[in-house]
Amino acid sequence: MTIHFIGAGPGAPDLLTLRGRDLIASCPVCLYAGSLVPEALLEHCPDGARIINTAPLSLDEIVAEMRAAHAAGHDVARLHSGDLSVWSAMGEQLRRLRELAIPYAITPGVPAFAAAAATLGQELTLPGVAQSLVLTRTPGRASAMPAGETLANFASSVTTLAIHLSIHNLSQVVAELLPHYGAECPVAIVWRASWPDERVVRGRLATVETLVDDALQRTALILVGPVLDCQDFQESRLYSVGYDRRFRPQSAESPFADCERVDKRSER
Ligand SMILES: C[S@@+](CC[C@H](N)C(=O)[O-])C[C@H]1O[C@@H](n2cnc3c(N)ncnc32)[C@H](O)[C@@H]1O
Repeated sequence: MTIHFIGAGPGAPDLLTLRGRDLIASCPVCLYAGSLVPEALLEHCPDGARIINTAPLSLDEIVAEMRAAHAAGHDVARLHSGDLSVWSAMGEQLRRLRELAIPYAITPGVPAFAAAAATLGQELTLPGVAQSLVLTRTPGRASAMPAGETLANFASSVTTLAIHLSIHNLSQVVAELLPHYGAECPVAIVWRASWPDERVVRGRLATVETLVDDALQRTALILVGPVLDCQDFQESRLYSVGYDRRFRPQSAESPFADCERVDKRSER
């Protein structure tokens, strides 16, 4: 048996991978982080499945459920919101499972930042404007930030920031970023991206706080950076006419011409 950690996506039930859906359907036990995972995903569980919301449980209690399933020879679907590689609390569960020699596997999901970018209809990296995306947060009650991971440090690059778990700290975020990004830097706040009640607030760093009302709590992403309203960016060379590349050699003399011939031969 295996504990299957599955990224449940940002909210819309159909933003789940096919592999994730099939695994949920095959597992007689489902543990889900009920604070953010949409309950509609539980409809994929098989009839009679043991379905447990882990939001009110401690780590010991969650691991006890996994041990019991392991002892009974049952596979487990373990659902966390978005993708599992960021802020999922998966790391501590994996460590316990390794200690207990219980097998596990990981199926990625659509992260919140990708859903927010889709809602905004934007690419978060544009040639000549931003080629990096910083996924970060501000300190919370449960998690302090390691020394050095300050917003000011990340901000010195002036690249795009996706600030999680921080809508309640918006004043602090603005104060720390203003000296680096300037008052006119565009900001977008996406609340509950991909849920039916999603909302978007667009503004400028100096004034964005005045645009946010009390309803925008908890599940919001703060995106900051010039990329958010830049139309005047270079086109990527990838598709430019005359750009010599492996998939579009420009002449028989191109260093890539041979690669193409080899690729075509191996396709046959
Ligand atoms: C515990 S973290 C989970 C992140 C998740 N593992 C991911 O891959 O995006 C929760 C934070 O992610 C962001 N978040 C999660 N889902 C979101 C959504 N649908 N819309 C906007 N922000 C979301 C919010 O900043 C929220 O405070």
